[in-house]
Amino acid sequence: MSITVRHLAEWKAKRERFSMLTAYDYSLAQWVAKAGIPVILVGDSLGQVMLGHSSTLPVTMEDMLRHTAAVVRGAPQCLVIADLPFLSYQISREEAVRNAGRLVQTGGAQGVKLEGGEDMADTVAAIIRADIPVMGHVGLTPQAVHQLGGYQTQATDEAGERQLLADARALEAAGVFAVVLEKVPARAAAQVTAALSIPTIGCGAGPDCDGQVLVTHDILGLFGDFTPPFAKRYAELGQAAAEAMKAFDQDVQSGRFPAKKDKQHDG
Ligand code: KIV
Repeated sequence: MSITVRHLAEWKAKRERFSMLTAYDYSLAQWVAKAGIPVILVGDSLGQVMLGHSSTLPVTMEDMLRHTAAVVRGAPQCLVIADLPFLSYQISREEAVRNAGRLVQTGGAQGVKLEGGEDMADTVAAIIRADIPVMGHVGLTPQAVHQLGGYQTQATDEAGERQLLADARALEAAGVFAVVLEKVPARAAAQVTAALSIPTIGCGAGPDCDGQVLVTHDILGLFGDFTPPFAKRYAELGQAAAEAMKAFDQDVQSGRFPAKKDKQHDG
């Protein structure tokens, strides 16, 4: 069975929690799908994790299209949502609709995610009028890192909580099917989750959101540059891979690999 945006609405109605993980390539997407994760985000975090940039800002539409298409090929049964990268939707509504359409038409995504609240509601509505499902993203919005002055927790006071709720409500009214709440206090996220009839997906936003998302490389120990404090580490695959590669190197240097009697060399 393929997951669609309708499943998320049903899960919210039934108060069933769900998970979302990032993937950026074919083979990782296959593993995420095999694990039964229903929703995959092709996040613009690929800028840091896959491309080695220090923020998401350099990520282009071409990057997103290539990685989205690979993920869709690897996980056809999952709901695959692709991030609209920086400057692909802020300049005009026309460009936003066109770029969202490219992620669906060329990339094969079933929906797009963009950052921003009240200020983005008209853009969101325009994309949805083109029948493209949109996931919102409020709280810490990494594409606004320079405007925010860093990656600090958002909505930490009453005014911030009010703005977070207003942003989430504006997105819901514009028609988003779900909204990511990134790096906000659990209390603020719980308030938004209770107020909305669409699912909230927390990313460092406490336990009361309807869904939870993390960057897969963070939970698997595959990305060493930086791990957000709210990410839980479930495996040390980077370390395990380095040990396996070291063993290969030692085998090659010592002549243990390839073994002379290996079948593949018998001709
Ligand atoms: O780009 C990304 O991976 C994200 C998640 C962290 C929500 O936007």
